Amino acid sequence: MTMSADELRRKYLDFFESKGHVIVPSARLVPENDPSTLFTGSGMQPMVPYLLGEPHPSGTRVSDSQKCFRSQDIEEVGDNRHTTFFEMLGNWSFGDYFKQEQIKWMWEFLTAEIGLDPNRLFFTCFRGNEDIGIPKDTESAVAWQNLFSTAGIESGIGDCPEVDGMRSGEHIFYYPDKKNWWSRSGMPANMPVGEPGGPDTEMFWDFGIQHGLHERSAWKDEPCHVNCDCGRFVEIGNNVFMEYVKTENGFEKLPKPNVDFGGGLERMAVAALDLPDVFVCSLFTRTRESIEALSGKTYGEDEKDAYAFRVVMDHVRAATFLVGDGVIPSNTDQGYVLRRLLRRAVRYADMLGVPEGKFSELALSVIGTYGEAYPDLVARRDQIVSEVEKEEKKFRETLFRGMKEFEKKMLTGVVSGGDAFELFSTYGFPLEMTQELAAERGLSVDADAFKDEFRKHQDLSRTASAGKFKGGLADHSEQVTALHTVTHLMLAGLRKYLGDQVHQAGSNITEERLRFDFTYPEKVSRETLDQVEAFVNDAIGSECEVSMEQISKEEAKARGVEGSFWEKYPDTVNVYTVRKDDGSIISQELCGGPHVPNTSAIRGKFRIAKEEASSAGVRRIKAVLE
Ligand code: SER
Repeated sequence: MTMSADELRRKYLDFFESKGHVIVPSARLVPENDPSTLFTGSGMQPMVPYLLGEPHPSGTRVSDSQKCFRSQDIEEVGDNRHTTFFEMLGNWSFGDYFKQEQIKWMWEFLTAEIGLDPNRLFFTCFRGNEDIGIPKDTESAVAWQNLFSTAGIESGIGDCPEVDGMRSGEHIFYYPDKKNWWSRSGMPANMPVGEPGGPDTEMFWDFGIQHGLHERSAWKDEPCHVNCDCGRFVEIGNNVFMEYVKTENGFEKLPKPNVDFGGGLERMAVAALDLPDVFVCSLFTRTRESIEALSGKTYGEDEKDAYAFRVVMDHVRAATFLVGDGVIPSNTDQGYVLRRLLRRAVRYADMLGVPEGKFSELALSVIGTYGEAYPDLVARRDQIVSEVEKEEKKFRETLFRGMKEFEKKMLTGVVSGGDAFELFSTYGFPLEMTQELAAERGLSVDADAFKDEFRKHQDLSRTASAGKFKGGLADHSEQVTALHTVTHLMLAGLRKYLGDQVHQAGSNITEERLRFDFTYPEKVSRETLDQVEAFVNDAIGSECEVSMEQISKEEAKARGVEGSFWEKYPDTVNVYTVRKDDGSIISQELCGGPHVPNTSAIRGKFRIAKEEASSAGVRRIKAVLE
């Protein structure tokens, strides 16, 4: 079936709307109130409070297409299925429907709506884990089996295909919790207390007809099976039955069982086209054509070029979305990841022969592709182009000299941490780029020594090195919740003393402190900070009630409720209000929670420890309860 990815996204959302779901907008790529992770890496991340039991403003059935970014996949890009940015189609049941409905709808969607041939579909289910007392998920396996039957296919249910291989006629397999358990931190043993998770059933498309069926994996000497990494099978979606939470005493059931489905839009699109390469899906067409026009090369003609094409297509798309969501290149956190992406993409575009200075045209091709689905990109077009151009220029200013320096260092046969740091600090070479250049010459870089060096020069505590922030763990401890409520009080104080132009531009809370970015053009005086402190401490001392209500976005706007990023909220919103006993309102803000029920639960005295510039027009505060 020839269907563009835009059509597929529409079909999926329409389908779940017809099953009683409310379609909600994508959250931003930079998560709010989640200190543990730099980016939104899955569709469920913004849904965590609702999976844990907070009421979602749109009800118990919700669906969306969520922008996701996984920095840990940067190095994986280049094959037929990995990208750093992707859209995850998602549907959720918050204590509403469960396995039977989800499996039936998925089957209907895959086979009837997008026309996938059931003979080429495979499913995996949870084998069970006695140690934690969670049984085998036979219900899901049998549900799939019955659906195969309706299509005239009698499927067996296999076990241990990773050892025994796949037997003919088997479309359903049990795997252990390493594969078929989902939580943000992976398998049960790795989950922290308070984290929700559950067994999942994953869906795979078999591209084997093109690849040539093989019994042994094409990449290592073991049987090929659906979870083997040879590229024949591609996972197109994951149904998580999130019904457990980890506690001090092992696993307990959540008050209500949830469904968390996530499926990669691009992967489903190429399965529908039966072309085993996500980069041929329609979302890359314009960018690919731009690279072809600028470089004179054709995608797919040469394998080495194909790798470079994929890196450029992926990185430019991701960078465009990141700038669209407010990230700007820098040497820390999200900004550093963006810088790495852009610089890596410039290097690969150079290899392909894209002329200098033309790079931002590729970002324009991304905006052209996504403008309709994500109008924000169009609204921020000028800023995106300008950031991309600035970064390309900055990089080129030092690239030539840096490469000369790099070659000189290469002559000694080693790249020390100090060398890598000098390339970073003087020539703007991200560590990973130096590592990649060294690897091309068969050398390695002492990354630990680099990091030591870096730490000496600045606080590296939250610099995003690949893997370090894998699958973030938002912490819902009491202290983090208390600081979250304090953040609302502080914003109300800032707006009281600095004016209504102050809005939240980002926030990051750990047990130790809150960090808060807000829009304001100049340094805030210590006197004002003292006033804000007093305002917050007064609210804490006054034992104010914190309440939540669900109202329409229009009404919230009309009431003057404080909020930023309005476009990411659904039509009905959660509004948190902090009120004194006399009924006067201290703070009223759009938010997903969680918050303390009363400010008397906030222990300690509030103090603003630091106020500094964050980026143009944005200030940053670090504050503590002590
Ligand atoms: N949480 C699951 C995933 O990210 C399904 O949405 O794969």
